[in-house]
Amino acid sequence: MTIRLEMRGSALVAMLCHSPVNALSASVRQALMAALDRVEDDPAISVLLIASDLPIFSAGADIGEFAHPPVEPFLPDVLDRLAACRVPTVAVVAGKALGGGCEVALACDYRLATANASFALPEVDLGLIPGAGGTQRLPRIVGIERAAEMIATGKPVDSKTALQWGLVDSLAAGDPIDGAIVFAKGLEATGKPVRAAPGTAGEAWLAEFSRSVTAKARGRRAPARAVEAVGLAATLPLAEGLAEERRIFAELKQGFEHKALRHAFKMKSGLAKNPELEGMPPFDVQHVGIVGAGQMGSGIALALLDAGYDVLLYDKHAVEPGAERIRDGIARRVAKQRLSQEGGNAMLERLRAVTSIDAMAGADLVIEAAIEKMEIKREIFGALEKVVGPKAVLATNTSYLDIDAMGAGLADPSRLVGMHFFNPADVMKLLEVIRADASSPQALATALAVGRKMGKVCVLARVCDGFVGNRIFKKYKEEAEFLVQEGADVATVDAVMRDFGFPMGPLEVCDLAGLDIGWHNRRREDATRRSRQRYSDISDRLYEAGRMGRKSGMGWYRYEGRDALADDAVTALVAQSAQDAGITQRDIGEDEIRDRLLAVMIREGRAILAEGIVSRPIEVDAVLLNGYGFPAAKGGPMFWADHLGEDRVAVAVLLDADPVALVVRDPVGLDEVVVRAADELAARSPRHRDRRRRDCSSSLRYRGARAPPA
Ligand code: 3HC
Repeated sequence: MTIRLEMRGSALVAMLCHSPVNALSASVRQALMAALDRVEDDPAISVLLIASDLPIFSAGADIGEFAHPPVEPFLPDVLDRLAACRVPTVAVVAGKALGGGCEVALACDYRLATANASFALPEVDLGLIPGAGGTQRLPRIVGIERAAEMIATGKPVDSKTALQWGLVDSLAAGDPIDGAIVFAKGLEATGKPVRAAPGTAGEAWLAEFSRSVTAKARGRRAPARAVEAVGLAATLPLAEGLAEERRIFAELKQGFEHKALRHAFKMKSGLAKNPELEGMPPFDVQHVGIVGAGQMGSGIALALLDAGYDVLLYDKHAVEPGAERIRDGIARRVAKQRLSQEGGNAMLERLRAVTSIDAMAGADLVIEAAIEKMEIKREIFGALEKVVGPKAVLATNTSYLDIDAMGAGLADPSRLVGMHFFNPADVMKLLEVIRADASSPQALATALAVGRKMGKVCVLARVCDGFVGNRIFKKYKEEAEFLVQEGADVATVDAVMRDFGFPMGPLEVCDLAGLDIGWHNRRREDATRRSRQRYSDISDRLYEAGRMGRKSGMGWYRYEGRDALADDAVTALVAQSAQDAGITQRDIGEDEIRDRLLAVMIREGRAILAEGIVSRPIEVDAVLLNGYGFPAAKGGPMFWADHLGEDRVAVAVLLDADPVALVVRDPVGLDEVVVRAADELAARSPRHRDRRRRDCSSSLRYRGARAPPA
């Protein structure tokens, strides 16, 4: 049963009960139609109430159905019928009314809400606009401007604001159904409301709002289409406006943006069902120890406290500054009203700052967040092993170090796993849970369970240098540097990737992180770098010239306040680097910049999959989306590669050189791709210039790429 019908006096109450979130699946739509039939057939019914048995009113249309041809009855038809119902209709909203769920409420004549109710039309987050009347009915209730803002941003409106706006007619105190029955009695005299035409916001306001929405949309189309649809409510009669809305909705539903955002939405469920640890019960965790009270340690502690854990913060040297950072973080949340004072106090009560590692004896899980030095981490785990209980899980927050080697000295290395958080750990959504060879499934299941309770997007990966995210991002940043060395303009490289949807370009990110970090990492790799591997020394030259990035006021750019400015000194330094490497600089267009930067991410993602570091493409995408700013509307590098349409990404490997990744836009045969890859290799690296194309071609082959169409 998806809707439970119940008579209360002369009111028919339709209770939505379609677990878990009252998605408006075909069965719910059919049941709503049946309820409307009953109203038509039974003259004794004087009012129809729509409410929910679940903690949520409704999460809207069933997103799972969007991948298939639509099934009748269609939601817009159901809601048109609801709007035309013979008797007054009242939505009784407790909890969230989202998307189509909000549109059910809008199609009713009246809306009652509980204090915890909220209304949102978040379809733009799926690359859509509301498709069941939202863009036409909402402006007729709250006006064009409020409706345009609510729909273009997808942001929720709480019940108090909804009451002020007239979106809600009354707030229910006590039992909402009882309240609605009383409210309905008052309707016997009033009957159905007469809605005024929406106020006509000036065209100029809409045009300006559309411009500002587009500027913030990072290439997404849906927000501006939402404004366009709301604007129609000012000029078109309802029926025509609804038809136009449906047309735009159907058009967007066929588009790449929607498919990519649907892929992003499905990630959470997809990652939760991890086939590798199916059915493995985690250990119970209540007390979590943190070793290292620096920026990262205190961020992790704050996130753990927020998730309800007891936290023991340990630092041999300086635990108090870390504890202070946590207290400040809690105070800031309270000040911003993101946390109640009682909630903040409860978090503080669960925090203990300690300076003796013996205090870790009671911890069920200990997360080490000390500096990135193997000897120091080994020493910490050796000491921890002596004090913690036999079931305690040990985790390292290392970003790069080999966890197998780290656990080698432990009596029980199976309890050691990686939990790689991202800075600031209380804000960033991503958590890479790292499986060392020795890690036990139960220790991994425990780390994943804790991560999920913290609200993190958890990706299970095996050990490799940089794990998934840093490994791919390193190649991305390297390729950006190669492009600059070959002649691309620094600011253009960043702008191209911002236009693609990243919040920042790759070189801006380097400046923000600090060029010293990359320099130290590269020195760590000097001993193992292959002699024939391409290496650009621009970042080294920048660092060695004292350009550390934002923190020193100059890096790839020169900074004046928050402004990043092009710097002639960098241009000269780059030109010198190119000359010393024997590279003749050339003009590089925006398409090539974007294609090459995406292609290296795809190439590395495929290598990570081929090596079994993660088992599913969705895991690579989840890492890039949640930790590195890859735009959700492009789905992630693996999704992007699979949906390039006519385009194809080929990864060609020349046996004794670096792999070349290139985007092949036109349908050409394998031979032609091989020749292009050889040309590209020669253009990038003078070492290969003297080799004849065909010599190269004979040793080129594909790795992990779909062959381009013949
Ligand atoms: N359709 C289908 N399944 C949905 C769904 C929906 N609209 N919303 C949530 N679910 C599923 C989730 O995938 C998850 O499934 P799983 O158990 O298999 O993993 C389950 O319901 C529980 O969801 P969450 O794990 O996300 O639970 P939370 O409590 O954290 O969040 C939520 C619940 C706030 C409802 C959140 O899931 C959400 O924001 N959902 C999307 C809402 C949305 O975008 N609605 C608009 C849909 S488009 C539309 O209505 C078009 C219309 O205009 C025609």
